[in-house]
Amino acid sequence: MQGFQVAPRRSIILAVSIITIFVVLFRFYGDVPVDYYRNYGPGETLFPIQVDNTRPQPGYFKAQPEWNFNVPASSKGWKGYAKTPKASDIVVLTASDGGGHNSAIPNVLDRVLKDRQEYCDKHGYTNLWLNTSRYDIGDAHRTWSKIPAVAEAFSVNPNAEWVWLIDTDIIIMTPDVSLSRDVLAPEAIKRGLMRHTPILDGQLKKNPTNIFTPQDFRVEDIDILITQDHQSVNTGSTFFRRTAFTRWILEMMTDYTMLMGKEHVGAEQDAIKHLMLEHQLVRDHVGIYPQRKFNAYVQGGDNMGYRDGDLAVHFAGCWVGGKCATWFEEYWGKKGKKETWRPVGGSH
Ligand SMILES: *[C@@H]1O[C@H](CO)[C@@H](O)[C@H](O)[C@H]1NC(C)=O
Repeated sequence: MQGFQVAPRRSIILAVSIITIFVVLFRFYGDVPVDYYRNYGPGETLFPIQVDNTRPQPGYFKAQPEWNFNVPASSKGWKGYAKTPKASDIVVLTASDGGGHNSAIPNVLDRVLKDRQEYCDKHGYTNLWLNTSRYDIGDAHRTWSKIPAVAEAFSVNPNAEWVWLIDTDIIIMTPDVSLSRDVLAPEAIKRGLMRHTPILDGQLKKNPTNIFTPQDFRVEDIDILITQDHQSVNTGSTFFRRTAFTRWILEMMTDYTMLMGKEHVGAEQDAIKHLMLEHQLVRDHVGIYPQRKFNAYVQGGDNMGYRDGDLAVHFAGCWVGGKCATWFEEYWGKKGKKETWRPVGGSH
């Protein structure tokens, strides 16, 4: 009798043990070791970069996987995003099809791309050109296609933490300027951003908005860096950080029924301006640097016009007087030069 009772008890214990082992095994089987997350940095390329600049993206571009970008795990530390990015995590993006008013400048796209490659090589950034004619943006103005290009830049560079979107009609004048140290580092942002500064919607005297940039902000919240000219923010030279906020605002800007599909004189630039004027949340995440930080113009006083040592010059509005080619060649001949040419306080 007793032998009978022992045998089933043993087999029950055995069965329970085996089941437990399987449960434990399957519960954790698919898990990635914790070290993987601890050591994960956006510097790891998870799949090779593949850009096909010839093939159109059919259908409405938001359906493209390009819009899925994940926040790097490295940003989940206690400092969050308040850290200086590695050079290899910075992408310099030229989103262009080489057309528009820029075609007045001979061979402009090839020339600036080669020049940006040299700048990237010097610092260790990634140079990227995306052919904007591939994006399906409906009937919207062509400059809207810069926005899906930003999303694709994040997608094809899984390690990119910051994307610098620069128009084709911009020349990097001072290649010694480091994006990570001088523009993107927490200290640079903390010191450099304009606090309690009016956000413009046309000239301030004619149209006081009474909307200001925050007096105080958290560096780790700043996901977009932009500049403002005498009338409005300008998207010709803008930095985007890979965050959920960035993805959200790119989606909002290209909302077809509310913004992209409507007639806006300033296209994507008006969209971001509108969102900044309307929403405190957006103002908390979009930092405004003084214009000459990375978007000096040819014309303008000491706040606006290019001066020696400025990172870049933008030929915004050059088509108005048919000046694109002249201005471009003048500045092209001076890029990287150290002699005094346009000193601060100099007349223009
Ligand atoms: C840019 O994309 C368009 C549309 O897909 C294509 O027709 C054109 O050839 C591309 N341009 C270049 C230089 O690859």
